[in-house]
Amino acid sequence: MNQGLNLSVDIGGNIILKNPVMTASGTFGYAGEFHRYMDLNKLGGIVVKGLSLNPSKGNPPPRIVETSCGMLNAIGLENVGIDAFQKEKLPFLRTLDTKIFANIYGKTIDEYARLAAIIENLDGMAGVEINISCPNVSAGGLAFGVDPSAAAHVVKKVRQETKKHVMVKLSPNVTDVTEIALSVENAGADSISLINTITGMAIDADTRKPKLANIIGGLSGPAIKPVALRMVWQTAAKVKIPVIGIGGIMTARDAIEFLIAGASAIQVGTASFINPKASEEIVDGIMLFMQEKGISDVCDLIGSIELPSR
Ligand SMILES: Cc1cc2nc3c(=O)[nH]c(=O)nc-3n(C[C@H](O)[C@H](O)[C@H](O)COP(=O)(O)O)c2cc1C
Repeated sequence: MNQGLNLSVDIGGNIILKNPVMTASGTFGYAGEFHRYMDLNKLGGIVVKGLSLNPSKGNPPPRIVETSCGMLNAIGLENVGIDAFQKEKLPFLRTLDTKIFANIYGKTIDEYARLAAIIENLDGMAGVEINISCPNVSAGGLAFGVDPSAAAHVVKKVRQETKKHVMVKLSPNVTDVTEIALSVENAGADSISLINTITGMAIDADTRKPKLANIIGGLSGPAIKPVALRMVWQTAAKVKIPVIGIGGIMTARDAIEFLIAGASAIQVGTASFINPKASEEIVDGIMLFMQEKGISDVCDLIGSIELPSR
C-alpha cells in the first residue's frame, strides 16, 4: 500500500505486480544501465532485452532513426545470449525487489523451448515474455506472430517447459490481432502483452537512400500510441487472460488510458531513451491521479472505459 492506495495488479499465472508499471524489452537493457538514474525497486516489473540461445551482434548501423513523434529501430535483436545473461546480468537483477521477465526469441520453435527450459531453472526470474515477432526459419522467414497456428505452436512448446509465468508479446503487423490473441490464450499463455513495433521505413530525400542500413525497421514512441490503444482495447474485450499494454506510453496519463482500455499493466519503452526516469515518474503520476480522482484501488481503473451507447 502507498499512502492508502492499492497499486498492485494481478497479471495471471500467480504473478502479482506491486504496481502496473513495467519496462519494455530492448529499451531498458538488463536494468543495471538505469540503476544510477532511478530507483529500480519502484517498478512493478522489468522485461530484459530479448535473449537468444547464442549471443547476437544484430544488424549493421545505422540502426536507429528519429521520425515524427517516434523512432525507427532495426537493432536486429542484438543480445549477450542466455549463458552470459545468467553469469553477468542475473546476479544484479536478483538483488532487486521487482518481478523480472526474460524476453525470449528463436529462429525455430525448438530454440524458444530450450530457452524456456533454461529460464525455468533460474532463481529470481518471474517468467518469460515470448517475442513472436521473429522470422520462422522453417516457414520461409514469415514471422511466428502473424500466423495463429505458428504462434500457438510456440506457446504450447514453451508452456511444456515452464511452470513460470508465460507472457506472449504480440506483433501489430497483422490484419486482426485478436485472432492471434485468442490462439495464444488457448495454447496456454498466462498473459498477453502488446504491441511490439510497427513496421516502417525512412528515406533521405537528398541521397535517395534508406536511412536504416536494414532499410525497414520498427516504429515506436508516441506515433504508435493510438494504434496500440485500439489493439489493447480490442484484445482485452476478447480474451480472459490479463493484457499488458505497450506503445507510446510517455506519461502517467498515457499509462492510465491503457488501463482504462482494459490493460492490467503497462510497459514503458521509448520514453526511457528520452528520460531514463520515465518509468519511475509514471508510477508516481498514477498515484497522483488516483489521489486527485479519489480512486483507492488501481484495479478500479482497469477496463473502466465508458463507451457511448449505440
Ligand atoms: C531499440 C528498441 C529495441 C527493442 N528490442 C526489443 C526486443 O528485444 N524484444 C521485444 O520483444 N521488443 C523489443 N522492442 C519493442 C519494445 O519493447 C516495445 O514493444 C515497442 O518499442 C513499443 O513501445 P514504445 O512505443 O513505448 O517504445 C524494442 C524497441 C526498441 C525501440
